[in-house]
Amino acid sequence: PRSIFLTRHGESEYNAMGRLGGDSPLTEDGRKYAVALGEFFEEESVQNLRVWCSQKVRAAQTAQYLRPEMHAEYWKALDELDAGICEGLTYEDIQQRYPKQADDRAADKYHYRYPSGESYEDVVSRLEPVIMELERQANVLVVSHQAVLRCILAYFYDRPLSELPFIDIPLHSLVKLTPRAYHCDSTIYKLDL
Ligand code: F6P
Repeated sequence: PRSIFLTRHGESEYNAMGRLGGDSPLTEDGRKYAVALGEFFEEESVQNLRVWCSQKVRAAQTAQYLRPEMHAEYWKALDELDAGICEGLTYEDIQQRYPKQADDRAADKYHYRYPSGESYEDVVSRLEPVIMELERQANVLVVSHQAVLRCILAYFYDRPLSELPFIDIPLHSLVKLTPRAYHCDSTIYKLDL
């Protein structure tokens, strides 16, 4: 059976500061995760693994220790949910500067769209072509971001849209999905840094 591997990028400088979005590079721990990910795929021999990565620096750096023959492709559709005017802020900053936005988001996280940015619903629609390709392909590793991976996992786990924005996807863990006839098996690997 073929497998789909999903991972967030390693810890970025913005993650460490609690800031949303941006395009910051990996921290020391993030780089260790990138190395561990490379080692994981050296040991686990997966036939013709393809790597699909977002176009953000932190995702490309996370994929950099994978073998070149894994053919990394960089999809803009895999970039993180665009937080618009809230990019680069912390949740605390948003609460202080835009309390109405924070309340609106808390009331309906799936449909809430950041001003000049996106909603989860928007991300689900831009991911449609990616998901269609994932359905057709053999073994793929997706290196992307928290909100995007929530959308992909909700699709394969068949989870309701209201729960989608709350799916837990910690940093530095790798999800392996193996689609079966009517469900998906999944295994989560916590990689040692
Ligand atoms: O904080 C990391 C991050 O990926 C942000 O870039 C993004 O806006 C956020 O998580 C998405 O999570 P939530 O929708 O729970 O705020």
